[in-house]
Amino acid sequence: MAETREQWHSRTAFIMAAVGSAVGLGNVWRFPYVAYSSGGGAFLIPYFVALFTAGIPMLILEMGLGQRMQKGIPLAFGSVRKPLQWFGWWAAGLSAGIVIYYSTILAWAWVYLWHSFKLSWGDQPQTFFIENVLHRSSGPGEIGWPVLSLVIGMALTWLTIYLILRKGVRSVSKVVMITVPLPMLLLAVLLVRGLTLDGAMDGIRYYLTPDFSKLWDLSIWLKAYGQIFFSLSLASGVMIGYGSYLGKKAEITNSAFITGLANCGTSFFAGFVVFSMLGYLAKIQGLPISEVAEGGSGLAFVTFPTAISQLPALNVLFGAIFFITLLTLGIDSAFALQEAFTTGFNDKWRIPAEKLARYFVLIAFPISLIFVTRGGFYWFDIVDKWICDFGLVISGLIQCIAVGYLYRVGEFRDYLNSQSEVRLGRWWIWALRYVTPVILLIILTGNIRTEITERYSDYPRWATLIGGWGVLLFWLVLGYVLYKRPAKANRT
Ligand code: TRP
Repeated sequence: MAETREQWHSRTAFIMAAVGSAVGLGNVWRFPYVAYSSGGGAFLIPYFVALFTAGIPMLILEMGLGQRMQKGIPLAFGSVRKPLQWFGWWAAGLSAGIVIYYSTILAWAWVYLWHSFKLSWGDQPQTFFIENVLHRSSGPGEIGWPVLSLVIGMALTWLTIYLILRKGVRSVSKVVMITVPLPMLLLAVLLVRGLTLDGAMDGIRYYLTPDFSKLWDLSIWLKAYGQIFFSLSLASGVMIGYGSYLGKKAEITNSAFITGLANCGTSFFAGFVVFSMLGYLAKIQGLPISEVAEGGSGLAFVTFPTAISQLPALNVLFGAIFFITLLTLGIDSAFALQEAFTTGFNDKWRIPAEKLARYFVLIAFPISLIFVTRGGFYWFDIVDKWICDFGLVISGLIQCIAVGYLYRVGEFRDYLNSQSEVRLGRWWIWALRYVTPVILLIILTGNIRTEITERYSDYPRWATLIGGWGVLLFWLVLGYVLYKRPAKANRT
């Protein structure tokens, strides 16, 4: 007899976990920046179009496939067509790759949490980040030793992940009840602080003033799709893995809508937090907002510390709140990724959760130390760029084509409708067969063309060959090995 698969405590736990993986640093440091530079309030139009024509359809596909097959991404795709298991392992490998470099951001956040008690970045947060925290070298060729404080941050990150995952879905069900609402609550606290600052409204106006002329620009639409795709954590196997822990009768479609809307709502909301602070900062420093507005790590580790130091009161408190927000935002994305990868090993070789969590962390921790060496920042940047711009886009494309054309997609829709609260129309099939793959293909060719014509960040070719294409190829090979290794029959 086949044993029953581990399951979420409740539907709420599942939705919380899915929202937790989707809501991450991207909502805070990527969305507001993309929005303001892509038409402000007008960006919401392509953004919501992308959400409904690609984001939620893919989310339904992933959650539904996991739930139906009761397997993580490798064997779920292996059940669609056998050779697709190879693809599944490759995509799962990308998740493993992401969590290994994603942990770097959490390591920085731990170190900043520590520094926030003394506001140690002083009045030179930029220099502080590069020289005192990263100890950054001059390029990817000059690696140097790992930086001790970051190694400690890294160790804390992996220890947390291990403790959360060692009891499998049971402990995740409990943890997400804290790590998902907590950062939202903290963001609300920061919002109240932000909105009551001088200049806040200028910031918000800057964020949302619509520029409708941008809607004629194709690249804005592609950015919206790219952002939705990244923000919903698609194509990495995370949602398939989480879906696989749902019971046989579980509701899918409505849960996917809730997850998608909750995630995008959080992004929109985080924009207010970010831009009210930026408005204040611009006012205090007498600069235009465009000069203080940054995205990415610069926003979190340079711009925000600057603003925190300049708050009229309770700076240490707000500093700590901000970095705890980052940590709690990031941690559920991190363990979701690790789970997406390791669940494949449980499916195929019946390795228990604790052992998987332990082995993974013991292997991943030493590898992740590359990213906290003096040259680590550059390697982090390269691996991130290649996995997101090439790996995940290719993976999403293969998923749509596999399910849209190689699977009985009409029957799959009937299956989902038979147990969901919301009926899926034919639009869902069109979204998977035409809209999403066409957009992903355009994004992919654009990314490849840009890479050929203008080398990314002027990194030397050998570095992007190793850290970029090399990583993608590595998982292709290892994925093949895992695919070919015979499965273990049922546990005793
Ligand atoms: N969605 C996450 C964010 O917005 C980032 C992310 C992309 C991710 N792909 C993922 C997280 C896969 C977990 C799993 O920050």
